[in-house]
Amino acid sequence: MKPKSLVDIGDYNKEDILRILKSAKEFKNNPNLDLLQGKVCASLFFEPSTRTRLSFETAVNRLRGRVIGFSDSATSSSTKGESLKDTILMVGNYADLIIMRHHLEGSARYASEVSPVPIINAGDGSNQHPSQTMLDLFTIYETQGTLDNLTITIVGDLKYGRAVHSLIQGLSDFNPIFNFVAPDEMRIPEKYKLLCDKKSIKYAEYIDFAPEAINSADILYMTRVQRERFTDLMEYKKVKDSYVLYNDMLSESKPNLKVLHPLPRVTEINQDVDDNPKAYYFQQAENGVYARQAIMCDLLGIKI
Ligand code: CP
Repeated sequence: MKPKSLVDIGDYNKEDILRILKSAKEFKNNPNLDLLQGKVCASLFFEPSTRTRLSFETAVNRLRGRVIGFSDSATSSSTKGESLKDTILMVGNYADLIIMRHHLEGSARYASEVSPVPIINAGDGSNQHPSQTMLDLFTIYETQGTLDNLTITIVGDLKYGRAVHSLIQGLSDFNPIFNFVAPDEMRIPEKYKLLCDKKSIKYAEYIDFAPEAINSADILYMTRVQRERFTDLMEYKKVKDSYVLYNDMLSESKPNLKVLHPLPRVTEINQDVDDNPKAYYFQQAENGVYARQAIMCDLLGIKI
């Protein structure tokens, strides 16, 4: 039997998500434990990362596990032509768990099908980023006290943003209302609208960064335009500055609003927002450590 992996946020149902969030809360209260002592976690990053890789590695270190891997695939034998299958089979001989980011959509699913150890998808192209969603849900719960019945406004690159795709799916059993704010070129893909329809989730699409989309929101989820997914740089330049959030745009927002962003930020949140108590993106990134501790222990069957 194949080990359980986290490839797609849909691999975890509502009960699973709530279990992980409960563990993440316990790890936030006490992140330094010896739960991964004797375990080796492989961190294979075929694409650049700051937060995901370092928060996973911090999570392992704080639980007394060991990390192997690479942060630049140019230093791996994939440059000599080694297939992803062979890489995963080899690393599966060395490690108890594999965290992988790859530019190809579906690569994590494929890896999970050949791997002898659990795979955590740390982002596969513009498809999914489920561990990001787990920390996003943890942060939403932490700031709102619930995941249910919230209005979530998602702004920016909804076409290529894998964090957005996973978040919509991850919230889909919690009766959200979505506002999707994107230029025509980066509208939310049809499959996520179909998911909303199937689950009777209300949503509205905006092209303008309309005040009503900000002022009705409990969570304002900003995203950057994913330059690395564009084949035509002119197309990227055309849309890269579509939306910028300034502090004064939050003046009529709900008292409980929190501004989130998976980061990295480029220009879409002006730095004058950073000191507003509604800005919560750096705390959100910190929560990545606790959510990832919870995910790894869950996959390895380790109880806190
Ligand atoms: N949010 C996120 O995935 O950031 P990194 O690309 O820095 O890992």
